[in-house]
Amino acid sequence: MAAALTPGRDSERSSAEAVFLDACRRRPVPYTPVWVMRQAGRYLPEYRDLRAKVDFVTLTRSAELAAEATLQPLRRYPLDAAILFSDIMTPLQGMGVGLEFNPGPLVRNPIRTPAEVDALPQLDPQRDVPFVLDAVRLVRAQAPRGVPLIGFAGAPFTLLCYLVCGRPSKEFSEARTFLYADPQTAERLLDRLADAMAAYLAAQAAAGAQALMLFESWAGLLGVREYRRFALRGARRVVAALRPLGVPLIYYLNQGSALLEAVSELDVDVVGVDWRSPLGAARRALGADKAVQGNLDPAALFAEPGELERHIDGVLDEAGPMPGHIFNLGHGIWPDTDPDAVARMIDHVHERTARGARG
Ligand code: CP3
Repeated sequence: MAAALTPGRDSERSSAEAVFLDACRRRPVPYTPVWVMRQAGRYLPEYRDLRAKVDFVTLTRSAELAAEATLQPLRRYPLDAAILFSDIMTPLQGMGVGLEFNPGPLVRNPIRTPAEVDALPQLDPQRDVPFVLDAVRLVRAQAPRGVPLIGFAGAPFTLLCYLVCGRPSKEFSEARTFLYADPQTAERLLDRLADAMAAYLAAQAAAGAQALMLFESWAGLLGVREYRRFALRGARRVVAALRPLGVPLIYYLNQGSALLEAVSELDVDVVGVDWRSPLGAARRALGADKAVQGNLDPAALFAEPGELERHIDGVLDEAGPMPGHIFNLGHGIWPDTDPDAVARMIDHVHERTARGARG
């Protein structure tokens, strides 16, 4: 049965959709919703089977295969949200940035000069990444239990890290030196990336994505002044363009403990928090007008079952009884995770937080 697309009373919507979207908006929910960053991925044997037939880029550029990968974890687990199977670099590849994955993204010609920034084309999602928008439509048509779909993009500063350095890195030193050596050009690049990601996310919402998420994976490398000047500037520009859509907006910040007060200024509904910050402290720093998402350490899935439950309870206790918590890991699930541990985690979150029937 198709999920209702128009906003309506909770009872008129399918329950998983209502629970996740209501939690994003800090409304009371019958249980805490849960999904997993990188829930479609290598820890699932069915994903490895798919990857045995096609390479990663083919998977991201075929609407049918990307939709299939997105749906795999939903068939196996009672998850409360889906996230589109894609990569933060996919729209840049669509814009003509030469890219390989091995396994992380490698940019053939890193962008560092004003001329290279100005030469970066704008993104036209329908023209450049039609397969992503088709994948969104396919998932919406096929998602079981009316599970809502999260569309996503890389936050501008995190994309800048890959574009400037050309490859994954622990320190992203060329990206950080670029901020100090040529701050005006860095700001121009961030603005261009923000406009491209705003267009990309708006197109995903128009195709049917019911929430939109920005992955700010590397801004935790910055001190608070540079975070505000560069990363927050880029994220704000995306958020300002998307706010009129009325879709819940989620901002995930990795290693952001020192930055949460600055993040509280960003007009998003939900902040995704890594495992280093207890959710109680994160909520206090972010303020009462934001929901939180997270934040079990991905390594905790390797604990004995009883211990795993205690770690999950610790996260739920930190989140507290007030509405506005979406359970997740603090970063992406690791490829060598036991799929049964994920099943136990989801069931335990649902059982521990069941609040009885609500009208
Ligand atoms: O588990 C898998 O096999 C996933 C396949 C894969 C993805 N990206 C999926 C993805 C691969 C091989 C990549 C390439 C890639 N892109 C890497 C190497 C990944 C690896 O595990 O070896 C990296 C580091 C990137 C860059 C990237 N992609 C970042 C920084 C992010 C944001 C999330 C994060 O981890 O900080 C992504 C997003 C991403 N990559 C998603 C998926 C399915 C979407 C988010 C999600 O599913 O939660």
